[in-house]
Amino acid sequence: MSPLRATTNPGKRKKFTLDPNPCKQRELLSRAQARPAFSVALRVVPERPETLISIADYEAAAEAVLSRGAHGYFYGGAADEITLRDNLDAWARLAVRPRVLVGVGDRDPSVTLLGRRRPHPLIVAPMAYQKLASDEGEVATARAAAATGTTMCLSTFANVTIGELAEAVPEVSRWFQLYVFSDRGITRELIAQAVEHGYEALVVTVDLPVGGVRERETRTESDQASAHLVPAAVQAGLKGDRSRTEFASLTDPDLSWSDIERFAADWALPVIVKGLLTPEDAVLAAEHGARGIVVSNHGGRQLDTVLSAADALPAIVDAVGDRLEVIVDGGVRRGTDVLKALALGARAVMVGRPLLWGLSVDGAAGARHVLELLLAEFDSAIALAGAPRAEQLDRRFVCTAPWAASSR
Ligand SMILES: Cc1cc2nc3c(=O)[nH]c(=O)nc-3n(C[C@H](O)[C@H](O)[C@H](O)COP(=O)(O)O)c2cc1C
Repeated sequence: MSPLRATTNPGKRKKFTLDPNPCKQRELLSRAQARPAFSVALRVVPERPETLISIADYEAAAEAVLSRGAHGYFYGGAADEITLRDNLDAWARLAVRPRVLVGVGDRDPSVTLLGRRRPHPLIVAPMAYQKLASDEGEVATARAAAATGTTMCLSTFANVTIGELAEAVPEVSRWFQLYVFSDRGITRELIAQAVEHGYEALVVTVDLPVGGVRERETRTESDQASAHLVPAAVQAGLKGDRSRTEFASLTDPDLSWSDIERFAADWALPVIVKGLLTPEDAVLAAEHGARGIVVSNHGGRQLDTVLSAADALPAIVDAVGDRLEVIVDGGVRRGTDVLKALALGARAVMVGRPLLWGLSVDGAAGARHVLELLLAEFDSAIALAGAPRAEQLDRRFVCTAPWAASSR
């Protein structure tokens, strides 16, 4: 039996507690103490004595505490979920080519992003409706991000307003993700709020002109209408109750590159285009004033059977790596995935669902632990691969894995 027990509380969520059996507790504690050494540079020392020691552990624990509807919404991808699965498999199809005897005692996981030095390459991906995971929702995620020096990207479809998040966690480095509404008055108001509240970049998501075919979500339906689902949009002038699906349908299907150019010209924030998978579009992003791009398939939630971001990344870096800051997301679950992303030329990596799993299991503390686990794994990965400075990673550190060909 699992040493973790789930106890139901009055809400839908359950809390995990340690097994009362003291022998079992001692075993768990000694296992926790036997974890690998952590980076001095990162100052990351996970302290939790539970069996939650990997993102996969959090994923399983989150499934046990979430309602079926919330889990279906968070976990699900589009249609047959082929891309959703491939997002993870694609990182595993790459092998690391480690170097030895290079001196890894002194490690530096930091990267430069939008002209600023960041302590490491992780960014919290924009994800909607985080109060489905925890009462504090996005504010809890921001606390976790702030505690670990992680930049957080707030979704347009957040359960808190742009200003509320900034006021609750003023110290967090924050970007705002923009869904461009057909009503450009609302769009302008959202951007103005982001500027006013100290957001450092505008991440314009372009892969949701219409919603994907989300069969898992339909099957686990929990899509209730409420005007308060998206308080930022209400504050910006949107009227009437809407469900999640109806909110998604407010995005402009005719958004074009000239809109990107206008955002870049009209607003003081650097524009990052999120959700492209081809070098052709990456070149267009550079030509229309973007400062960066996120190579992403929206976590496999939009068009099924598109390329994984890991597979799309190298050609895009070759096309625009010297003109744009290239960020990647999708399926990052291990420190070695972060290493591979940087080796292929990404400057930073967005992490999505793992944060939701941490948030669901233990609010801000769980989300923070998830980030700490990934950072500790990344530190271990750069040490063992012989790349003690994150910025020295390049393609010599990866190759197609021999097992990749046989798995096709
Ligand atoms: C529940 C959920 C909600 C999301 N909401 C948004 C959103 O509001 N805006 C956006 O640009 N991307 C959204 N995404 C996509 C993420 O930003 C990111 O691209 C994706 O989750 C990365 O894949 P991963 O979850 O495998 O890490 C969402 C993803 C999930 C799982």
